[in-house]
Amino acid sequence: MQDELELIHQMTGPELIRLAEALGVPLTYRHVSRAKIENDLVQALKLHWQTEKGKPVQKLDIPALKISNLHKEFGSKVAVANLDLEVHPGEIVGLVGPNGAGKSTTLRVLTGIIKPTNGQVTVNGYDIRKEPVEAKRRIGYIPERPTCYPSLRVIEYLTFVARIYDVPRINALLRIREFVSRFQLDEFLNSYIGTLSKGNLQRTLLAGIFVREPPFILALDEPIYGLDPRGAWSLKSLLRELRDDGSAILISTHILEVAEALCDRFVIMNHGKVVGTGTIEQLRESNPGATSLEEIFLMLTGGIPEV
Ligand SMILES: Nc1ncnc2c1ncn2[C@@H]1O[C@H](COP(=O)(O)OP(=O)(O)O)[C@@H](O)[C@H]1O
Ligand SMILES: [Mg+2]
Repeated sequence: MQDELELIHQMTGPELIRLAEALGVPLTYRHVSRAKIENDLVQALKLHWQTEKGKPVQKLDIPALKISNLHKEFGSKVAVANLDLEVHPGEIVGLVGPNGAGKSTTLRVLTGIIKPTNGQVTVNGYDIRKEPVEAKRRIGYIPERPTCYPSLRVIEYLTFVARIYDVPRINALLRIREFVSRFQLDEFLNSYIGTLSKGNLQRTLLAGIFVREPPFILALDEPIYGLDPRGAWSLKSLLRELRDDGSAILISTHILEVAEALCDRFVIMNHGKVVGTGTIEQLRESNPGATSLEEIFLMLTGGIPEV
């Protein structure tokens, strides 16, 4: 989390009032400067954290995400065939492949949105079919085509998410502020979600994931697509920070520059099957002649096109 004084400094008036209420700091004087309020809140927060000390830090299961022998058919169409995949705490795994390779289907199965024809998925040790609530409590998912409650305002949505995931009030207020700032959502706090552009909707959904408390298990379907360069940069640096702090992250993408710059390891899919796995070095070794992820990807998914 960012420096608390900095976060408090970025808060809107109503946010400051909510935080003061949550911390039990009286705001009764009539002519008090903002700097004084901010200072009082920082002092109150220090005391608050002292009483919170000793709270056990959550750890993720190893592996945090496990897909075993996943098979998914739509009628006679095999979308995913015999997929095995693990994501461990502290790594970003890239699920890459051309359109129709089965990436989104894989993410939909592992978040419990659709049922597999065969195979098993566990999230933090919980089977997504047998203990869906426990499994879903830990997973953060961004779908390929983001959708969200159109008649909630952005701030209402973020507050709602913090409540349903039991984020303690003070943490929720600080985290909402942190991710509203990071994803440049200030202008839109009071906008209805139904009126947002695709990029801002994507940022709102991302903020909704991160308002919950880390470590995270993330399944992000083409998360960079639709963000402008600044949004993309904020997300990439955030994902790296979270990875370094022990989150387990799976991203599907066909933007190979992003994948190569961000992911520790890759699972390359084509026509529902895994055609290559490993770090970029391992993939280079098993595909002599290829240097970039792009070349490896093309070699494994139908050959490098003639110019
Ligand atoms: N609900 C569905 N009904 C029928 N076919 C589907 C459905 N969802 C995906 N498919 C098919 O499964 C294959 C994999 O799709 P998808 O997982 O969306 O690929 P990717 O995300 O890698 O582009 C495609 O051939 C797609 O047409
Ligand atoms: Mg897809």
